[in-house]
Amino acid sequence: MADEDPDVELEARLEEQEEFEPPEAFVEQANVSDPEIYEEFEETWPNCWRAAAELLDWEDDYDQVLDDSNPPFYEWFTGGSLNASTNCLDRHLEERGDEAAIEWVGEPTDEANRTYTYEELHREVNEFAAALRDIGVEEDDVVTMYMPMIPELPIAMLACARIGAPHSVVFAGFSADALATRMNSADSEYLVTCDGYYRRGDALDHLDKANEGLADVEHDVESVVVDRLGDELEHSLAPNQHDYEELVTEHAGATVEPVDRDAEDMLFLMYTSGTTGQPKGVKHTTGGYLSWAAWTSQAVLDIKPEDTYFCSADIGWITGHTYIVYGPLALGTTTMMYEGTPDHPERDRLWEIIEEYEATQLYTAPTAIRAFMKWGSEYPDAHDLSSLRLLGTVGEPINPRAWKWYYKYIGGEECPIVDTWWQTETGGMMITTLPGVKNMKPGSAGPPLPGLDVEIVDTNGDQVEPGRAGYLTVNKPWPGMLRTLYQNDERYIEEYWEEYSDTDSDDPEDWVYFPEDGAKIDEDGYITVLGRVDDVLNVSGHRLGTMEIESAIVGVEGVAEAAVVGGEHEIKGEAVYAYVITEDGYEGDDALRQRIIEGVEDAIGPIARPEQVVFTPELPKTRSGKIMRRLLEDIANEAELGDTSTLRNPDVVEEIRTKVQD
Ligand code: WTA
Repeated sequence: MADEDPDVELEARLEEQEEFEPPEAFVEQANVSDPEIYEEFEETWPNCWRAAAELLDWEDDYDQVLDDSNPPFYEWFTGGSLNASTNCLDRHLEERGDEAAIEWVGEPTDEANRTYTYEELHREVNEFAAALRDIGVEEDDVVTMYMPMIPELPIAMLACARIGAPHSVVFAGFSADALATRMNSADSEYLVTCDGYYRRGDALDHLDKANEGLADVEHDVESVVVDRLGDELEHSLAPNQHDYEELVTEHAGATVEPVDRDAEDMLFLMYTSGTTGQPKGVKHTTGGYLSWAAWTSQAVLDIKPEDTYFCSADIGWITGHTYIVYGPLALGTTTMMYEGTPDHPERDRLWEIIEEYEATQLYTAPTAIRAFMKWGSEYPDAHDLSSLRLLGTVGEPINPRAWKWYYKYIGGEECPIVDTWWQTETGGMMITTLPGVKNMKPGSAGPPLPGLDVEIVDTNGDQVEPGRAGYLTVNKPWPGMLRTLYQNDERYIEEYWEEYSDTDSDDPEDWVYFPEDGAKIDEDGYITVLGRVDDVLNVSGHRLGTMEIESAIVGVEGVAEAAVVGGEHEIKGEAVYAYVITEDGYEGDDALRQRIIEGVEDAIGPIARPEQVVFTPELPKTRSGKIMRRLLEDIANEAELGDTSTLRNPDVVEEIRTKVQD
């Protein structure tokens, strides 16, 4: 192995090093460089979060920082009102109207890139806000967006924010079924989508998929369709479908007075996977979420208005919401958007973009870094990446080797790396080093941000010793937190609070947030997140519920029962392993395997496609009939098998193992 490795030299020099100081040149210019911030925030909590609210313009000042009278239904900055689109656009016009707000790079290299100055973005957001009103959208109506990485996506989000209509963005890679489920669940009567987009050189039809989803929506829907592909793809619109360009042209020059939103009014909904088959509608608010997005973007990503900041996530996930759209635009910087994949047309596409735009930060995922590492350092080496000042990662644990590769080959050993742990539910970053203050330890996200109270506990809720694995918990609320699950307060309590809280108490001290991650802490308070402890997989940084995949598989004709677990994967982190029992009269053959894969793609999307489908006569079950997933995981990982003595059918384990190894 080592001989073929291009980075033997790096290994030799960096392998031993477990701690890295932030580069001096970085610290000198960092937005936050005073170590006192930790103590100061602890002493002044919750008033410390005024610092986050101060980054925004408020229409009405808030009276109270935190209202914790009804835990876990916390409210932040109560009495205050503001508008998110004003904060992301209008207030920057005077000083930065001619500066780029969004730099968009399409996938085809022969297509012109698009720059939107703050002035231009403001204009288009106003026009589209007027258009949305025109087709009937009113304050508090949920508008669904089912779009890839094209500028009209953030435009539509900000237009919704302007008129006080919460958005619900559905990742474009999700299936028609997934779209329909989310629109039905949110009673969403409006959809913004597009005809198609480019993926690795191919023009993909998207409208077909959207229409298929719409056919399963239980109520009438008005939709708007962006023409991304022009002549490349002909499509016709139904009577309740409007062409985006026509609508915007009809409202050319319109200005829409931003709607005053209470701090606690919903800014958006985002569906995410949980333990059960039904995705959860995470509700985020205007004041708390936006403050959190802005503060963490400033303190952790070190964003300054003159930066050209590049986050390679998709806006269809929370990372793109907070760190492509709301955080960067609230701070008045230039945020980049790239439509395509990092290997199109060549494996140096991101480095080419960074060089061309002189990007100052790169925020990406460990799965991408592992792929870059596999492709080799010659791709980044061929480009001048010296404009980069800071690197970030998010979505899953990063192993020290990938961290060090990123540090050396992308950052040139001159950029701090922030390994940021957070979730859809937390709204923004929670555990990470402050890059201008703390040393970095590869493999560990770092300490909790100032003002956060995080503990690693055992099943009884008692703190575990440093070095021991336990469960991650958050003891105090924070402004960016979710407020509830859409129209389901009960499930909100069950999913996040019940485990470690005294749910009869109205004392906030008795309430503890449980993110469902395992973790350990070291003597310096640095936290290593070990991964999900619920039935959620993390495939290429994307959250997928095993139950959702299982119910898709069971829906396929010929399948009697299925169990899905995660197996380790070199690039994806985790891959989907499906163990399937066929119905009597059906063969576990390639044809059925193919139908299962298609069934999963139809129900969720290609990201959930099983890596392995293993047919088995039985699943390992305990005497009480519960599937022993741990054993199935051990098999997927070719690990030593755990205890099989409590099984009703111990023999089946060997049988399955032989099949997987074949
Ligand atoms: C995982 C993505 C280790 C974790 C922003 C969490 C991480 C889930 C990290 C949330 C990290 C995210 N280190 N694990 N730096 N960041 N995770 O909701 O398991 O898509 O619970 O939000 O990703 O995924 P979500």
